Amino acid sequence: MAPKVMQLLESIEAIVGENGIFEDDARGVGAIVRPASSDQVSRVLKLCNDAGQSIVPIGGNSTMVQGTHRGRGELALSLERMSMIEEIDTESRTMTVQAGAKLQDVQEAAEKNGFFYPLDIGARGSATVGGNIATNAGGNRVIRYGMTREQIVALEVVLADGTIIPMQGKALKNNTGYDLKHLFISSEGTLGIVTRAILRLRTLPTSQCCGWVSVPSFEALTKLLTFVEGFSQGMLSSFEVLWAEYYEFITGPSCPHSPPIPYGDPYTVLIETQGMNQKENTSSFEVMLSEAFSEGLISDAVIAKNMAERDRLWAIRDDVNQAIQLAPIWAFDVSLAINDMEAYVDEVKTALNERWSKNSLFTYGHLGDGNLHLLPAVGDGSNETRIAIERIIYEGIRKRNGSISAEHGIGHHKTAWLSYTRTSVEIALMKKIKQTLDPGDILNPGKIFGEDPCTILTE
Ligand code: MLT
Ligand code: ZN
Repeated sequence: MAPKVMQLLESIEAIVGENGIFEDDARGVGAIVRPASSDQVSRVLKLCNDAGQSIVPIGGNSTMVQGTHRGRGELALSLERMSMIEEIDTESRTMTVQAGAKLQDVQEAAEKNGFFYPLDIGARGSATVGGNIATNAGGNRVIRYGMTREQIVALEVVLADGTIIPMQGKALKNNTGYDLKHLFISSEGTLGIVTRAILRLRTLPTSQCCGWVSVPSFEALTKLLTFVEGFSQGMLSSFEVLWAEYYEFITGPSCPHSPPIPYGDPYTVLIETQGMNQKENTSSFEVMLSEAFSEGLISDAVIAKNMAERDRLWAIRDDVNQAIQLAPIWAFDVSLAINDMEAYVDEVKTALNERWSKNSLFTYGHLGDGNLHLLPAVGDGSNETRIAIERIIYEGIRKRNGSISAEHGIGHHKTAWLSYTRTSVEIALMKKIKQTLDPGDILNPGKIFGEDPCTILTE
């Protein structure tokens, strides 16, 4: 190790203590730094900034886009020692937390106090609040409560040079100039380190109904979404669609789930409503599905009779790892207008068929948010295949004015395609902001606009 680096690590250790730093030799990258307070984060960043040392914030490591990828010698910054839930204010309906707190701990703490923190993603057990904020995580209840951005009342952020931007107050409204917190939400750790947050709490629903339905056509699917939104009068909390090829895989012989309803229709949907009265909620859910059936919007349905059945339905939706484990498989997270989705997915499938006679295309997503996940299982795992598949997926998105990343971010993985979603004017402005806040480019370098990760797209 170069003497300069040794010296820097010693100075960092003097700030964070022996427990606050350890080498990550196994991966050939730099040390992991674990500060225990915002003040320590500030002092560590100042040192790194002065030394021109790159530092990559890591949360629960559930990134889908190599958002915490580290090059040789790059330090990692983990807030795992800053995971305290500092306060639950039942009058302001807020929770103040350190950014290393796990999402599931936050959800459970809210519930224990009679409140609800609505953000929910499959990786709730490992993902941290700081990571959720850095990526503006979305997930399964966005249709009702919005993404992470909508759950944030205030943030404390440490800038690259060590400046601490203190937390604003607990009031939801504060229209005094630019609302700077929004700059850091979804910045993927490139503009500053979020160290603490005030989260907005909601009323804890006391009833929920969950069902799985099959839908005969895409036209029926969009009508069904409009119908259930209207019928459930603000209670719709999830509308998660699975295309048939994915439904048959995830409930098929190679997976541990059995199909809640028979195969045969092109789409199935997990629908959940949450309310305040179980009896009323259940009877209105049943009426809703029976009317949808009479209108020809659904062809079959099953309703969970208890929590165990509800959990079984959600396990089918959440168990995306079954597919991700297949190799070679490629994971995409795109958004586009709902009425473009049917043609888009068909076009992707046709293009895959033309090039690879043997392929699977697993499609599912948060339809109400215009967000699809596409997992093509195809080809040989090479970079060449990856580029060919990315081109197929992203060209169709570009021409429909969609986004190459709906909720997972750009990370290291998608940098080459940023211009498919953002204009050169927007990218130039983003770079100006980055340059202003982190002129030495020490924070999570190579993310969002980093170098093309597989030296592609040269034509
Ligand atoms: C999900 O919706 O399950 C997550 O975003 C992960 C994914 O499947 O891409
Ligand atoms: Zn998702």
